[in-house]
Amino acid sequence: MSHSSAIDIRPFEDADEEAVAALWKQVFPNDPPWNEPSLVMAKKRAVQRDLFLVAMENGALAGTAMGGYDGHRGWIYALAIRPDLRRRGLGARLMARLESALSDLGCPKVNLQVRDGNEAVVAFYQRLGYAVEQRVSLGKPL
Ligand SMILES: CC(C)(COP(=O)(O)OP(=O)(O)OC[C@H]1O[C@@H](n2cnc3c(N)ncnc32)[C@H](O)[C@@H]1OP(=O)(O)O)[C@@H](O)C(=O)NCCC(=O)NCCS
Repeated sequence: MSHSSAIDIRPFEDADEEAVAALWKQVFPNDPPWNEPSLVMAKKRAVQRDLFLVAMENGALAGTAMGGYDGHRGWIYALAIRPDLRRRGLGARLMARLESALSDLGCPKVNLQVRDGNEAVVAFYQRLGYAVEQRVSLGKPL
């Protein structure tokens, strides 16, 4: 039987907040202050909250993926799988669900950013059909 048979993927619900915050603090320990989990979740509740997905395994949080579509491009953020559940296809399943939801909104292309040096994650995304595009990424807190 597949390890992923007990996995349920659904939109984030308010009751998931504590578990999501714990997962993100574990998986993204060096995030900047503007990525403080409770702030991120509060903002995402207000904008396209259906594109914030969680994967549950037997009622416990197994992973997250957050998307957005701005009318031109789709973006994907906060893809995180619990360390003990990796390499079972769960990250790929969450990505497929999010891509499908973005496509349903008319989104023609998805972009995402990976921290410099995170080669394993680049390999994961390439396996899913993503290509490395030579760009310089800029940002500015507002
Ligand atoms: C990246 C991440 C989401 C992958 O989740 P996952 O559930 O383990 O991925 P999957 O099992 O769906 O992997 C699908 C395929 O991607 C590739 N892959 C996944 N993890 C990989 C790794 N660490 N190194 C190389 N290839 C990898 C493999 O080809 C894999 O297929 P296989 O297991 O049959 O070989 C997970 O490792 C994670 O949460 N990492 C930390 C958070 C992070 O960096 N997120 C990305 C932010 S941009």
